[in-house]
Amino acid sequence: MIFNILTLFPESFQGYMDTSILGKVIEKKIISVNLVNIRDFAYDKHRKCDDSPYGGGPGMVLKPEPLSGAIESLGKGPRRVIYLTPAGKLYNQQYAEALAKEKELVLICGKYEGIDQRIIDQYVTDEISIGDYVLSSGEIAAKVIIDSVSRLVSGVIKEESLLEESFNRGILEYPQYTRPQVFNGREVPEILITGHHANIQEWRLKKGIEKTLKNRPDLLDRVDLDENIKEYLNNITGGQSNGPNKSDRS
Ligand code: ADE
Repeated sequence: MIFNILTLFPESFQGYMDTSILGKVIEKKIISVNLVNIRDFAYDKHRKCDDSPYGGGPGMVLKPEPLSGAIESLGKGPRRVIYLTPAGKLYNQQYAEALAKEKELVLICGKYEGIDQRIIDQYVTDEISIGDYVLSSGEIAAKVIIDSVSRLVSGVIKEESLLEESFNRGILEYPQYTRPQVFNGREVPEILITGHHANIQEWRLKKGIEKTLKNRPDLLDRVDLDENIKEYLNNITGGQSNGPNKSDRS
């Protein structure tokens, strides 16, 4: 999988690429990250990449020419071109899974008030927001995409770990414990030290459902939940599958 990152701040990716799990998979050539400095494609005297918006208003907009030059420098696609913006579609695990199927991605890191719409119209296939808040630039969002997608690429993380984690079955992951068996007077749940695999699996499923009900009841509104999840949910909520009281949600 190749990530082409179009950014005004390529240096901001260095530490991340050296220290994270990504560093190791880059070494193994499972993932490669190609950093493209947008400013290298600004050909005026001051290598200017931004300008004020037509129609007035605060802030600056990324000019189309350097961005277009940076995208064209990658050669012919086809490849998904993602623009990271708070005005994009909300990113989630399913989105990450879809992107992990691609061989190559382009990530455009925005800055200022955004990029010229004509770049979106001509090149962008996906506008993605990583959450309902505004970051000062797209670089952090790009790292979120690189991280969440690359760990799904075969050979990066054990398949087994991916199957167990949050969101995999539409519910959050069960609580985890490690040694010591007693910490500050709190004991590890007895069932986890019985070695009884089937009972442990059932306990984990229940705890995952309880955690989802407490922290993310919205996830339980999905109709395609496994039957055993629905059944347990019915038992503990008395049939109100998305929680005892929607107004309690915060
Ligand atoms: N750039 C600024 N805020 C962002 C967000 N929430 N998601 C993606 N890119 C962004």
